[in-house]
Amino acid sequence: MVEYRSDLFKGTAEYYDRFRLPYPTALFDDLRNRVSLSERARVVDLACGTGQIAFPLATHVSEILAVDQEEESIAFGRAKADALGVTNIRWVVSAAEDVALEGAFDLVAIGNAFHRLERGVVVERLLPHLPDGACVALLWGGTPWRGERPWQRTLFETLERWRDTAGVRDRVPQGWEDAIDRDPHENVFRRAGLTYEGEFRFAVDAQWTVESLAGFVYSTSFLNRQALGDKVSDFERDLRRVIGDEVVEAEMGFAYQLARKARR
Ligand SMILES: C[S@@+](CC[C@H](N)C(=O)[O-])C[C@H]1O[C@@H](n2cnc3c(N)ncnc32)[C@H](O)[C@@H]1O
Repeated sequence: MVEYRSDLFKGTAEYYDRFRLPYPTALFDDLRNRVSLSERARVVDLACGTGQIAFPLATHVSEILAVDQEEESIAFGRAKADALGVTNIRWVVSAAEDVALEGAFDLVAIGNAFHRLERGVVVERLLPHLPDGACVALLWGGTPWRGERPWQRTLFETLERWRDTAGVRDRVPQGWEDAIDRDPHENVFRRAGLTYEGEFRFAVDAQWTVESLAGFVYSTSFLNRQALGDKVSDFERDLRRVIGDEVVEAEMGFAYQLARKARR
């Protein structure tokens, strides 16, 4: 089994919140429709980061449980909710694999994280809390270095080089993509008796500067400021050298995969 360290996002909360592109509103609208989320709905945002799913859904539902194993992300989300006066998100520090759940949830949403979890264990744990018709949604967001534009390839190569320079290649477990290919997420759902309803895609045009690209990199598990250590300034200089001062553009893809507990 592929295993991830549990502290990979240390020091990223501020960058995550500021520089990750938000999931498109159209994605949330589509998700709410498909799940038939009412104002009385209860939702879990599992592996919530600083609340990329919890905040946009909070105004549409009754209650959200936002869970993440990294204390810093939860503290950031909680402080942001206080500042914004959002009172219906409960913030909990816990691993998804052993979070204490109470009652029924209409939707469990997992953003950019399912591949990091012990997927079968997590889904089995959710099942008793999903009434018939309730859903599990996996949300995925695009990354600026995955794409065919010349600047995207240059950025990809630059980040690969810096993973070696900083000696941090081991922050991403080897073979994680092959493991998912061999046993795709939809199979995990089907084994647990959930009905897989498909993947729904959305795209947005995005513009980046060298500052926002660096900010995005600092939000990652694999090359954040903690990983770069005393090489942060050298990295930023190099990034400016390869990207330049111009604004760069590309389409970013977002998607969600949906599984449902069948109505009997
Ligand atoms: C890439 S971030 C995703 C944040 C946010 N959900 C989003 O949609 O962008 C991955 C998050 O998963 C959390 N995470 C990873 N493994 C976890 C686990 N086993 N239990 C709970 N949280 C976990 C990390 O702490 C991190 O905040």
